[in-house]
Amino acid sequence: MKGIVLAGGGGSRLHPLTLATSKQLLPVYDKPMIYYPLSVLMQAGITEILVISTPEALPAMRSLLGDGSRLGISLSYAEQPEPRGIADAFLVGEDFIAGDPVALILGDNIFHGPFLPSALAEARNNEKGCTLFGYRVPDPERFAVAERDADGRLVSLVEKPEHPESDIAVTGLYFYDADVVDTAKRIRPSARGELEVTDVNRIYLEEKEVDLIVLGRGCSWLDAGTTESLNEAIQYVRALESKQRLHISCLEEIALEQGWITAEQCYELGSRMRNSEYGKYVMSVSGLAGQSI
Ligand code: TTP
Repeated sequence: MKGIVLAGGGGSRLHPLTLATSKQLLPVYDKPMIYYPLSVLMQAGITEILVISTPEALPAMRSLLGDGSRLGISLSYAEQPEPRGIADAFLVGEDFIAGDPVALILGDNIFHGPFLPSALAEARNNEKGCTLFGYRVPDPERFAVAERDADGRLVSLVEKPEHPESDIAVTGLYFYDADVVDTAKRIRPSARGELEVTDVNRIYLEEKEVDLIVLGRGCSWLDAGTTESLNEAIQYVRALESKQRLHISCLEEIALEQGWITAEQCYELGSRMRNSEYGKYVMSVSGLAGQSI
């Protein structure tokens, strides 16, 4: 399975913060925002990942993340010159996807919780159709909303409904089978001129199987697209990391846990950033801190 982080867009709701830089490079407490969605794909065990962003932001993303080899993964990059919609990721990424199943995550979505790894494993193992992740929100009218029947099966997806039938928002993490590129080619731009991922998901719902995993208590979903939500995300990560002394979305730690890098490599990556708390944490999770290596 391949993975895509869609990290372009205008970021206009964060102006002037995003006038000269991309939203996904802004800090969320101790690390750039893009670390969070990238960490989700890595936790799902995905090692071939495409980062899609604007031509202006891609050079900085490339210099931040490189080719992924230091983390034991393969990162490639592609331009989306205009924000043509989330489903455009499948057209931009067609050559990269190359007929494989693919997981897509939005570059400003943060997921965290003890049940996340098992939910990701379930989505990855679902070989038919697609898997969406739902999250209960107090303001569903701002999102694509998922309606379920009495047996918990997904029956409809409605984009920003005036009168939502449920409080389950569809989050920015989607797993698809190998037909997603062909499906994305069948949809047309919406009234706002974008290729809507909800239109792709509706075709899957009509023609195939769609699993909806509703992330329950103990899981958090934050999108950092507005000044308020960005600051909430920063406070959330700060509270977790200072109280639990565990860093979330630490790419080096995940790579070590997945067996993609050795303890020595992890220690070395941390020592390059030894002046920061993040760097010290990476050195400590290697298990080699304090030993002479
Ligand atoms: P949005 O929140 O829809 O848009 P945005 O980030 O451009 O922000 P704003 O509304 O403030 O102008 O995008 C959600 C995520 O998806 C975000 O990480 C950007 C990304 N995205 C793209 O990369 N390309 C696109 O065409 C769209 C629609 C979104």
